[in-house]
Amino acid sequence: MNTNPIGIFDSGVGGLSVWREINELLPNESTIYIADSFNAPYGNKSKEKITELSAQNTELLLAQKCKLIVVACNTATTNSIELLRNTYSVPFIGIEPATKPAAVKTKTGKIGILATKGTLASELFLNTSKKFRGDIEIIETIGTGLVPIIESGNINEAESLLKKYLTPMVDKGVDNIVLGCTHYPFLKPVIEKIIPPSITVIDSGEAVAKQTQAILQEHKLLNTSHNATNNIFYTNADTLILKKFLEGINVKNYSIQSL
Ligand code: DGL
Repeated sequence: MNTNPIGIFDSGVGGLSVWREINELLPNESTIYIADSFNAPYGNKSKEKITELSAQNTELLLAQKCKLIVVACNTATTNSIELLRNTYSVPFIGIEPATKPAAVKTKTGKIGILATKGTLASELFLNTSKKFRGDIEIIETIGTGLVPIIESGNINEAESLLKKYLTPMVDKGVDNIVLGCTHYPFLKPVIEKIIPPSITVIDSGEAVAKQTQAILQEHKLLNTSHNATNNIFYTNADTLILKKFLEGINVKNYSIQSL
């Protein structure tokens, strides 16, 4: 039994799309979430800067005795997880674009991936996508400008950018679109207005929650007590925006703190 919290971080509110999946699968676990919104977006920063910020978030979570850390950011995972794993002793769970599930599912042989520049340029992403290229066509698009819109809380303002990014994928005949950034699932209502219903939209949130459960089990870190859980959300930006997102995903018992 281990009642210590799971630590989760992202460059902002995006990782809440992962937090939601973790909480649904593991409601008995306490969590501490860091939204590093002040430094968002990570996607166009250098690998060195992304790694520095990721290490900073990790240390804040470790200072609060987190037993496992979920890097709820594709950009931070693909650029920094190796270094984090080599530096700190707790288990890390990362998130990467769902290239494999999309590649397995496609019937047209064409998939689209929408992600940040930092993710699409990373070695980890290149190595994964290389395994499927050849058999299928992968249309990659950088979602420039989407994260700041989501961070501002005005999701509908993303419509014209999404049209610009997704229409070429649709025209090329993709039947699966991968949301390779944890912020993007919050755009789903707008995305579904743009693309035909025959196209499947995939993200990795649920897979990350399952992996978190498996690793907690493996390390005997699951919380088997029946004490009340505690969910704390830290932000270094506007607490009202964070609150709006938490209410949007129906979080009940939580506290918000400024970093
Ligand atoms: N949510 C992040 C991701 O999954 C990062 C977005 C950003 O800060 O650019 O990639």
